[in-house]
Amino acid sequence: MNSKFSIHALLKCATICLTTVLISTSCSKQPTTLKDAFQNYYLFGTAINVRHIRGKLPEDMAIVMREFNTITPENMLKWEKVHPEPDRFNFGPVDSMMAFAEKNGLHVIGHTLIWHSQTPGWVFKYDDGEPATREFLLQRMKHHIETVVDRYKGRILGWDVVNEAIDDNGELRNSKWREIIGDDYIQKAFEYARAADPDAQLYYNDYDMWKPVKRNAVVKLVSELQAQGVKVDGIGLQGHWGMDYPIISLGDSAIAAYAALGVNVLITELDISPLPNPWAFTGADISKRFQLTDETNPWPNGLPDSMQTALADRYAELFELFNKYDKNISRVTFWGVSDGMSWLNNYPIRGRTNYPLLFDRNHQPKRAYYAVLNTVLNK
Ligand code: XIL
Repeated sequence: MNSKFSIHALLKCATICLTTVLISTSCSKQPTTLKDAFQNYYLFGTAINVRHIRGKLPEDMAIVMREFNTITPENMLKWEKVHPEPDRFNFGPVDSMMAFAEKNGLHVIGHTLIWHSQTPGWVFKYDDGEPATREFLLQRMKHHIETVVDRYKGRILGWDVVNEAIDDNGELRNSKWREIIGDDYIQKAFEYARAADPDAQLYYNDYDMWKPVKRNAVVKLVSELQAQGVKVDGIGLQGHWGMDYPIISLGDSAIAAYAALGVNVLITELDISPLPNPWAFTGADISKRFQLTDETNPWPNGLPDSMQTALADRYAELFELFNKYDKNISRVTFWGVSDGMSWLNNYPIRGRTNYPLLFDRNHQPKRAYYAVLNTVLNK
């Protein structure tokens, strides 16, 4: 009786154990998502554009809802789109994007208030074509910032207040903003944005942020703003990077230098181009262009297997770096959802076939996607 009981108990126990092992194994293999895997690290975002909002890219939208918890409009909030004429604001697409975000519990980032690109020429002139004075342009800047920020007050997590104010030589860029207003245009933009939505986070955003010349200039700029009593909540590294830049040690020292200012660090526009870069061009000034040749567009029909692996390894080493600074990094945002809609198909050369994101043209996760996930799942 006893032995029968114990055999029965043993069998039952074995069944339970086996089931538990099977469930736990299948659980650990269960597909997760980027936003869930990184929930204790930082927010995980992507840029979306007006075609997403108009319902033209449903497969991308499914990825957005599944994988990300933050969205940034790729162009919709830039001055030329949201404020195309002096007395006309175009809020329709942004309103739709906000509705989508709120329905799906996504944070929204405002990109961008003050920039030298994608800002119409009229901004810097009077109606009669005469160049604007400092006072006039400050008034116009204030009106733009107040109107746009106030409309989405309390609903936008943070704003890229000023984009790309430092030139490649580390000096303040000679933009129209600086030429007409003076160096304090940056401070004024932050002040106007803070007044319009005191609870929104305010960021400075730029490219090549890992280069020592840019890094030192941005550290100087932000410390001067802080000394003037202007609170900067975060510094955004755009992250339009390549297979060989930034080297990890320079990325590391840049993140450390920004974090030392006591601000959040954000990777705001991440994409890694695996295509050839014969000009060793690293920036992202959208006015720079090169000529299309066969050698600069080598894979029009698909990325070779070896390159898929190289891209995955590259993403992994960058995310290892981000994870090391997870206490300082508050968000990592990709500049696009899937390869087919990446701006890098047309920049810095029009008409290339590029593969910089985590999802391919068929909206499937790439090897790079799993490599990124594994930087946290393998902990
Ligand atoms: C790019 C968009 O992706 C393109 O669609 C547009 O034609 C040009 O601008 N740095 C930035 C982004 O801050 O706003 C830029 O986005 C890419 C470089």
